[in-house]
Amino acid sequence: MISLDAPEDLDVFGRWLDTIEARFSIQIDDSRQQAFKSALERFAGSLGLTLEGLESRSKLGLMEAEQWAMVLHLATNHETRFFRSPAATKTIVALCKGVLAPKVLSVGCSSGEEPYSIASALLDAGHPTFRIHGTDVSSVCIATAREGLYPQHPNVGNLAAAATRDGKMRFHRFVRDMVTFEQHNILQDRPVELAVPDIVITQNMLIYYRAQTRYQILNRLSSMLAPGGHLITAPGETLNWECQGMTRIPNSNPNVFQRSVDV
Ligand SMILES: C[S@@+](CC[C@H](N)C(=O)[O-])C[C@H]1O[C@@H](n2cnc3c(N)ncnc32)[C@H](O)[C@@H]1O
Repeated sequence: MISLDAPEDLDVFGRWLDTIEARFSIQIDDSRQQAFKSALERFAGSLGLTLEGLESRSKLGLMEAEQWAMVLHLATNHETRFFRSPAATKTIVALCKGVLAPKVLSVGCSSGEEPYSIASALLDAGHPTFRIHGTDVSSVCIATAREGLYPQHPNVGNLAAAATRDGKMRFHRFVRDMVTFEQHNILQDRPVELAVPDIVITQNMLIYYRAQTRYQILNRLSSMLAPGGHLITAPGETLNWECQGMTRIPNSNPNVFQRSVDV
């Protein structure tokens, strides 16, 4: 059996990094480690503990699921915004043209702005029905996404959301029925709830992983697609990835790959 405990010869923060990689398959880039260390120390402090104390609690199996979820949330970067990549949204709307009820999977969707931006754009383009499924490793983000309640955004139209009395906007019930969310780690084996999507989009998540891990994720996302379906990533995120059965659409920005129809 693989031990999830880190080797004793690392310092306590190094052991936390190893524990997180062993438990969640998440690697934390060097540039984010200091921020994560401070956040983890604050979290431990909020429980009246040091990093060593939190480690002892974890080794004794005394950390609750919610506490692990918070550690994982702190370990990852959740920056996002509505219509962060207008080019990606436009590409999705174009690919969905003529598809009766397109299925779109957004992997690493953070607190939901990306899936709801796609929904809003599809509604504005005249698509009455679709399914968009957002997944993220952070259950904290997924809980926010399911609420569908955000500060107002000028590009989110009335078809998708309505203003609330306190100056926010809430996505309509029927939109929240078509835009679903799931806590899911794309590096672990559990299948995603949305089967054979027509489009998979993952943006600003792969950059936090080393090349081999990125390739592993891209291979998995490709294998999930419907035959002829498309995989979209932000520019520069796929490095030199190549995958049998996947063709890169030349000069695409964002990156677009199409799965072969005979798979
Ligand atoms: C920087 S945000 C990007 C959000 C959105 N895609 C965008 O471009 O605005 C990256 C998200 O990926 C999620 N993430 C990181 N590793 C993941 C994994 N292994 N599986 C699922 N989500 C992951 C993080 O929790 C975070 O919310």
